Amino acid sequence: MTPRARSFDYSSLPPGPKLPAIAQVFAWAFRPTQFMSRAARKYGETFTIRFPGFPEEILYSNPKDIKKIFTGSVEDLHAGKGNEILEPLVGRHSVFLLDGKRHKEQRKLLLPPFHGERMHSYCEQMRKAANEMIDSLPMDQTVGIHAYTKRFTLDVILKIVLGISEGHHFIRLRKLLGNVLDGASSPLLLAKMLQVDLGPFTAWRRLSRSLTEIEKILFQLVDERRASNDSTQIDVLAMLISAKHEDGRSITFDELRDEIMTILVAGGETTSSALAWAVFHILKTPGVLNKIREELATVLDGDDVSAQHLPKLKYLECVVKETLRLSPVIPTVGRVLQRPMTIGGHDLPAGVVVVPCIYLTHRREDIYPDPLMFKPARFQDDGPGPYEFFPFGGGIRRCIGAAFAMYEMKILLAQIVLRTNLELPANYRGRVTRRSITFTPEKGMLVKVKSRK
Ligand code: HEM
Repeated sequence: MTPRARSFDYSSLPPGPKLPAIAQVFAWAFRPTQFMSRAARKYGETFTIRFPGFPEEILYSNPKDIKKIFTGSVEDLHAGKGNEILEPLVGRHSVFLLDGKRHKEQRKLLLPPFHGERMHSYCEQMRKAANEMIDSLPMDQTVGIHAYTKRFTLDVILKIVLGISEGHHFIRLRKLLGNVLDGASSPLLLAKMLQVDLGPFTAWRRLSRSLTEIEKILFQLVDERRASNDSTQIDVLAMLISAKHEDGRSITFDELRDEIMTILVAGGETTSSALAWAVFHILKTPGVLNKIREELATVLDGDDVSAQHLPKLKYLECVVKETLRLSPVIPTVGRVLQRPMTIGGHDLPAGVVVVPCIYLTHRREDIYPDPLMFKPARFQDDGPGPYEFFPFGGGIRRCIGAAFAMYEMKILLAQIVLRTNLELPANYRGRVTRRSITFTPEKGMLVKVKSRK
């Protein structure tokens, strides 16, 4: 952590909530949307929040300031430092935790499988996983669909990233990863001081055990792959095993393990929550479900959804984007200042964290009239710009899996609409709850499956 600047008057930072720092942590962990909205109403588009033992965080929701942060020099604005809390889950070699040259190099290794044409080759596996998920939904019972979307996203990642879709490793990893995501879901585990092993019945002990077992299985998988020398494997694991650093060095097992864990953690929890939110808005907002049905009937003409249809499903794409606007699963992203800077007219010292606030920017009345209404049409034509709509963050740190997640979401939602008839329980409000760093709908997003094809 960068030490506090002695010569800087910290009381000159933008004003923010006056609650003691410890109370701000609890508000941030358990009532985050109320905490942010109240502060924005009182202090405006820029305000400072304080957590004990952490540097001050300055939240921004003006696109001009957000542009300055996302387009600033990577030497001046470090994201890796702000993500240290994730280290026990993803490891110290994770792209999440790196900055500067090492970040750039590691990111370059990870990007190719999540871009462009490669996406189309995943369509069939994703549709298969979607159908399996739909088949497993119990009929006529109210269930939390988030548990099912989580299993879907983990299955997709295990298939596409590790190339496994059955057998002992698959079943074990699916279970262990589920444990890790659930174990890490408590907002309290965000506090470094609670990331300790206090005995056999503590959440942290269970989490550490699952992580150790996952590491063992990954080690075996990598070993088997290296021994088999099979060049026909085209999954992400195969690509990482053969990847080389710029200086020609092969990637080590520790680096490989940390990047695989990063993808599993980053891709599983986020996309599954976004899917749960999408189901909520589709069922809740009159007219949306029918419009998706009409579009699917026109574009698919009786077929199953496939890669060639996806670019034509424009309304569904708007539904996914509007979901990510109104219910972003990650509410903020942070950058730690490495030198004094002026942002939004405020002089800031090195060491503070500047935070583009996705949640508040996405709710600005001047960008999104009637911001609390779910209106997919906002994304027709050009839609908002990258500093007004940024559910995947921005700049050099923008989410590596953004295209992958959008693709995956469209496939599962299309299959759900084609094959099921779901109903929201009366009075279900879909309030926000926090699972670790993500926002998800309360009670796992309740639905009743009325019929299924
Ligand atoms: C709806 C789903 C998702 C959302 C909302 C989301 C959101 C985000 C956000 C906000 C960031 C931080 C960006 C920043 O600091 O500016 C991020 C980073 C990242 N995401 Fe995602 N993500 C999603 C799905 C995925 C998937 C499916 C994968 C992998 C397959 C993935 C892999 C990553 C990685 C590796 C990073 C770190 C990038 C870096 O530091 O350079 N994400 N994501």
